[in-house]
Parts: sequence; structure tokens; C-alpha cells
Amino acid sequence: MVKKSVITLFTVLLLFILAGCQGDSDQTKAIELKLAHNLPLEHPVHLSLAEFARLVEEKSSEEIKVKIYPNAQLGSEREVIELTQTGAVDLAKVSASQLEGFESDYSIFSLPYIFEDYETYEKVMNNEKVTDKLYNQTEDIGFIALTYYNAGQRHLYTKDREVHDVNDMRGLKVRVQPSQTSVQMINAFGGIPTAMDYGEVYTAIQSGVIDAAENNETALVGNNHGEVAKYFMYTGHQIVPDMFIMNATKFNQLSDDHQQVIKEAAQESTLYHEDVWAKTIEEQTEIAKDEMGVNFIEVDKTPFIDAVQPLHEQFAKDEKTKEIYQLIQEAKQDE
Ligand code: GCU
Repeated sequence: MVKKSVITLFTVLLLFILAGCQGDSDQTKAIELKLAHNLPLEHPVHLSLAEFARLVEEKSSEEIKVKIYPNAQLGSEREVIELTQTGAVDLAKVSASQLEGFESDYSIFSLPYIFEDYETYEKVMNNEKVTDKLYNQTEDIGFIALTYYNAGQRHLYTKDREVHDVNDMRGLKVRVQPSQTSVQMINAFGGIPTAMDYGEVYTAIQSGVIDAAENNETALVGNNHGEVAKYFMYTGHQIVPDMFIMNATKFNQLSDDHQQVIKEAAQESTLYHEDVWAKTIEEQTEIAKDEMGVNFIEVDKTPFIDAVQPLHEQFAKDEKTKEIYQLIQEAKQDE
């Protein structure tokens, strides 16, 4: 009996000691940040996010760890923006087109042909007046932007027909991102827009629910759309960045040093991304051509550019968009 109570006492003591140790290790435990996105593991944006995670760990001497949930494991882009607002997710990579539904300034990126070429886009994306306006203004709705990743130019691709002109767009059912501006764009081209999440596109093309979609070249190989869509027209109608966002409260709770680590790692991963992106586009275009039999077609952009002029006029005068429209035009001219 005595023996039994000694053992019990000993066990209780041991549990207390262990609990104490647990308490100590909790204090020194690394901060773990959850990062969600919807792209596959081989995607260049995933590789750059993995580089971000590596840099954060290295720069914080492992005081911060980043766990990545790729492939829309935690939900569609819209869902992960909402999860980032509530703090259920700390970090997310989402298309700027999807952010349009949360902050109207982001709609500027879905305005077709707002950037003449990739160099102009890059100049604007690195202009401090633009980033100052965009990155922090969503703080009151729960998140801030840390940086952007190049997501290439968006082009039209179809299941089984060539498109050379807006006349060929008549009656064409085209998937767009859930973005009002992208819906307006396809209407202006004369097609029939259908907004849906990225994850649904493959089956929608295969089953004939849609005839076409529009994206950068990684959709063909990384998301296998090249198996079901055989014509890729270089319309270059949009250059939409992928935005890297963070729950605002989580960011503000970090020490100054840790905030600095996050910002530096984000910026460095954006630079790292440029090479990874260029290399991937080259490789995947070859694979789509040679192994999937996708036809890549150059088109004259003029009729497409002309068709969306009314949309530009609307953006230039609409109360919600005129300020950002003007800012982008000025940033294009800045030295
Ligand atoms: C791009 C972008 C994705 C986005 C996708 C889409 O590929 O990188 O973040 O989901 O476009 O068209 O939905």
C-alpha cells in the first residue's frame, strides 16, 4: 500500500517536472507561420515561396518557421484570402485578380493592356508610390501585402480552335478568374465569360462546359491543361501579379527584428523568382509543344487592344478606380 502511494507520488512529481520543462520549451519554441497557396509543387511560385521559407528560417536563426500548404489544400484563393483575414492562415499567395473583390484598387491589374509590356509592368511594380498605396491599405480588412511574384502574361487558350481576331471570340465560352474586370474584358472581346476557381478549369474544358481559358504557360504543363486545350494564342491581354499577403495582426505582433526578417525574405524571394520563372516558362513551353501537342500562335493584338478602350475610359473616370488608374499612368512615366 505504502509502496503504491510512493509510486503515485513519484509519478505526480514527474508529471509536474515534465510540465515545467514543457512550459520552458514553449517560451523558446519557434513561431510557426502557415502559408497557403493553390499551385503545384513544381510551380515556380511554389519554389520561390519555399525560398522565402528558407530565408525566414535562416535570417531568424530558426526562431520563425514557415509551413507551406500548396495545391489549394486549405481552399480556393478566395477562401484563403478570407482565412488570412481571420488569421486562421498567416500567409497566402493569391492572384491580384482575386483581391479585386476585397479592395477595388487591385482591379487595375485585370484591366487588359494596362501595361504595354513586361518591362513597364516591372517598373510600376517596383515604384514605391504604387507599393505604398497598395501594400498597406488593406490593413483594416485584416491583411497587408509583403511583395509580389511575377505570374507572366496571360494569354487565351482553347480546346480546339484558333483565334486570330475578336471576331473569332464570338460565342466562345471563356473561363476567367472570379474578377469583375476580367468578366468585362471577355465581354468586350465578344466572348462569353464564366468565372470559376482555377481548380475547376481542367474538367470544365474537358467536359465542354467552357471552350477556352486564359492564363500563363504554366497552366498547360503544371496544371495539365495542355492535355485538353490544344491552341494557345499569344494575346498577352493581362499581366497580373501573384500577391503575397499576411494577416495584419500577426505581422504587427512580431518584434521589429522579426518584421524585418519577413520583409527582407519576401523581397529577396521576389528577386530569386525572376530567374526561376523565366527558366520554367521556356522549359514548359517546349514540353507543351513537343509532348502535349499544343499549338502556339502569334496574333495581332491591335483588335483586342481596341476592343477594351471603353474599359480604360471607364477606369479613368470611375470614382473607385480613377486614382489608381492615374497613379499607374504616372508610375509608367517616372524615371
Ligand atoms: C495564375 C496565378 C494563380 C491563379 C490562376 C488563375 O496561374 O498564378 O494564382 O489562381 O492564375 O487563373 O486562377
